[in-house]
Amino acid sequence: MGSRLLNLAKLSIHVLFVVSVFLTLQSCSDKKEQTSDYQWPILAGFPKPQVPKDNPMTQAKVNLGKVIFFDKNLSANQQQACASCHHQEFAFGENIPHSFGSTKQEHRRNSPALVNIAYNKTLTWAHDGITSIEQQILLPMFGESPIELGITGHEEEVLARFETADYQVLFSAAFPHQPANFDLIVKSLASYVRSLISLKSPFDTYAYMADDDAISASALRGMNLFFSEKLECHHCHGGFNFTQSTSHEKQLIDRRPFHNTGLYNVSRDTQSNLSGYPKHDTGLSEISTLARDDGRFRAPTLRNIEVSAPYMHDGSIASLSEVIDFYAAGGRNITTGKLQGDGRDNLLKSQFIKGFVLTTEEKSDLITFLKTLTDPSFLSDPKHIVAE
Ligand code: HEC
Ligand code: HEC
Repeated sequence: MGSRLLNLAKLSIHVLFVVSVFLTLQSCSDKKEQTSDYQWPILAGFPKPQVPKDNPMTQAKVNLGKVIFFDKNLSANQQQACASCHHQEFAFGENIPHSFGSTKQEHRRNSPALVNIAYNKTLTWAHDGITSIEQQILLPMFGESPIELGITGHEEEVLARFETADYQVLFSAAFPHQPANFDLIVKSLASYVRSLISLKSPFDTYAYMADDDAISASALRGMNLFFSEKLECHHCHGGFNFTQSTSHEKQLIDRRPFHNTGLYNVSRDTQSNLSGYPKHDTGLSEISTLARDDGRFRAPTLRNIEVSAPYMHDGSIASLSEVIDFYAAGGRNITTGKLQGDGRDNLLKSQFIKGFVLTTEEKSDLITFLKTLTDPSFLSDPKHIVAE
């Protein structure tokens, strides 16, 4: 199947075409039944993530996927690995507003933190059709707009780099009797990404291990603000993963929420007075082609949010303090430059972004609460990285 994917990938003009081709091929690939030996690092009582039936979690796949994630040989010009845009210290996100691909092409979006992705209902900042990590991973691998790892057109050359003796050991442990191919590379990368679970923050000790002293009085006041009707944060960032866009084995409702938070209101067409998000990224409407989806993005998890600045899909807000000012104002008013426009008046803005007033102390309490979602063990766990 590797070589069929390879030929078809060469023909691809559009990445989503590759995605659909891959899915079709996936269903005809010969599957070996694998049983899962994987222990999820979650507390008893927590729901387990859902995992595709044809790619059950195994420790051997996680081990292989991790080595590939950190290997620059996955990019055509050997300049970039997945880890080049997803750094452990930034919760597997990046500390610059936009990412750059292996050929230095700029990505229009901010590299999201990879935290509890196994629980994500949908993948990427604004796509309601990408529901598996296996699908998502094809974008950085084969995408041409922008070029990230740039494999399209270099499939054979890239694949040959995974035939070393070291890789053979890892591949045969993960996929006995199957030669290295892109299908297996994707499956192991997806397994590794699923293993990036972070549920050991002070907030978890407080909320799920009944240790009342795990967070400060200031954090508690901030938590109450977060869950209040005044601030409404929990409407979109609720649940144990601090995003309503969560799925797991016990959740049966197919909810894929996206919201316009009033970041922009750029004038796009002077004749018809049309305004909204900048043309280069209008969010969900690009996928749905519906005007009413303009500016709608997925609310990300807020776990480890302290370390994954800058914020929002385009990294356009630098700090947590400014994020709170933005919500307090009920959107963002940009007064000069190309992106000028008052996001507070965006007609498609969510009704939950209505603005509020906080005292200096309350604002600091809210930030203190958000910082209790930082899980130091996740950010430094050597089992998630390859020792240099
Ligand atoms: C050039 C930088 C770059 C590289 C290289 C890169 N990514 Fe990403 N990654 C991004 C950006 C930017 C996004 C957001 C894309 C979007 O929303 O359109 C993203 C999104 C993701 C997501 C979705 C996260 C979510 O919350 O939905 C996953 C998973 C992911 N990347 C894994 C990987 C893997 C695995 C690799 C290697 C095969 C990789 N990335 C390579 C920049 C990069
Ligand atoms: C209407 C739903 C909604 C409400 C209410 C809401 N958010 Fe968000 N939040 C979002 C969406 C959607 C994004 C991503 C927006 C984008 O990138 O354009 C986001 C992004 C964020 C980010 C940046 C995340 C990142 O990884 O870059 C932070 C921090 C945040 N919200 C905190 C809060 C806080 C604190 C509150 C309450 C004051 C709040 N949110 C209320 C939907 C919401």
